[in-house]
Amino acid sequence: MAKKKSDLFVCSECGNEYGKWVGQCAACGAWNSLKEVQSVMSRGKGGSGRSVVKKMSLERLDEVKEGKDYTRLASGMGELDRVLGGEGFVSGSVVLLAGEPGVGKSTLLGQVAMKVGLAGVVGQEGQGGGSVLYVSGEESVGQVAGRLKRLGGRDLSSVVLASESSVEAIVSEIEQKAYSLVIVDSIQTMEVEGVTGSAGSVSQIRECSAALIAVAKRSNVPMVLVGHVTKEGNIAGPRLLEHMVDVVLWFEGDRNSDLRFLRGVKNRYGATNEIGLFRMEGVGLVEVSNPSEVLLEDQQIGVPGSVVTVIMEGTRPLLVEIQALVVHSGLPMPRRVASGFDYNRLQTLVAVLMKRLNLNLAEKDVYVNVVGGLKIREPGADAAVCAAILSAFRDTPLQSDANGNSAIVVGEVGLLGELRRVMNLDLRVKECVRLGYGKVVGPAGKSVVGKGYVGVKGLRDLASKVISGK
Ligand code: TYD
Ligand code: MG
Repeated sequence: MAKKKSDLFVCSECGNEYGKWVGQCAACGAWNSLKEVQSVMSRGKGGSGRSVVKKMSLERLDEVKEGKDYTRLASGMGELDRVLGGEGFVSGSVVLLAGEPGVGKSTLLGQVAMKVGLAGVVGQEGQGGGSVLYVSGEESVGQVAGRLKRLGGRDLSSVVLASESSVEAIVSEIEQKAYSLVIVDSIQTMEVEGVTGSAGSVSQIRECSAALIAVAKRSNVPMVLVGHVTKEGNIAGPRLLEHMVDVVLWFEGDRNSDLRFLRGVKNRYGATNEIGLFRMEGVGLVEVSNPSEVLLEDQQIGVPGSVVTVIMEGTRPLLVEIQALVVHSGLPMPRRVASGFDYNRLQTLVAVLMKRLNLNLAEKDVYVNVVGGLKIREPGADAAVCAAILSAFRDTPLQSDANGNSAIVVGEVGLLGELRRVMNLDLRVKECVRLGYGKVVGPAGKSVVGKGYVGVKGLRDLASKVISGK
């Protein structure tokens, strides 16, 4: 590639910029991740070239008027609004919706477009619905319209579709008409003139997003950009984009399950780590309002290796089933397989079980699975994973409560085999009680958390309290 003076090299992993090519990114340590990018002046108006002294506008803290300087647009889907920070899209904000192909991004946004559009037609007060621009660079207008109609759109008069990949055309449309929401599906298919590289290349993605973000801010319209992620999660786009947008949402789900999780990983206007739960059905995505019941509906009570735990997803406690399988291994290095649970954490817990409970797992393969495709990212499930392994190893099911429900196990496990307290323990226990579970086993402490709660000090204690036959 011929090197031009204005060229820039950008790390496709972290977005750091360099004046010349280097083999390893100094910022994130990734190898061979630098891509050549042509810098163009697409950063909005006002850059006249002359160097003028610019003045900052300053405000004294005690004189600043409080209150939000933005409005929110309800998406019409409570689970999405929750992840967006409560009440929906913030005016002028740009949301990146990232996920693997086929997970349901276009379906979700199509439904949102119709709901916001309908709210505009009906003129719902306070809902702020209105006309929606849905730009698809992947599908024809006919395809998108076909899907939306199948999804049961009622009054579609305020949803405008376009099959377009030119960012200039989209920018000029947004500047001319007042839309209440703009959806661009997907950023990998967009192109801007004067930039080398085809759609989807790092330089195109960079410049396209910069131009789209600039117009969203100028026109104060909320915008959603779709970003594809490959199985390895290593496509340049979304990673680089995460720094540029206001909100990043990941849409994920197991290929073999109809459950879909919408997870906030960055949010300038609210808390992250909230999740929204959906189910992919024939009529599109259906919101799940009772996630714990859905996650547990296939649980077989009284089978060795199955343990229910309660984890926190944002502000919401969720009950999930952990399954473990322990079998004889013929391998010199026995297998430890974790799905939905951190692999290294599983290794640690196996080591703790071997040392503290004298469990002979050295010649056993250990498999752990979180049912429903959920990925657990907190230590509260440690004790349940240990209990599941123990139950599978001894081929003995967990004891159940008076109603025949299995006991719930919660808590972090330390290296000494002790059970440690986790955040929001009382909230978790309350949720278990609400769903009719009569026995929750967790870390012992001074503030004992109500009826049905059994405090235990460590794994040995846990084993004797929940696993019969010993
Ligand atoms: P899609 O929204 O096209 O995924 P993405 O935009 O993330 O690539 O959804 C693709 C899958 O969803 C496809 O395999 C079919 C399935 N699907 C349903 O099960 N029900 C529906 O109503 C729709 C529209 C799609
Ligand atoms: Mg799509």
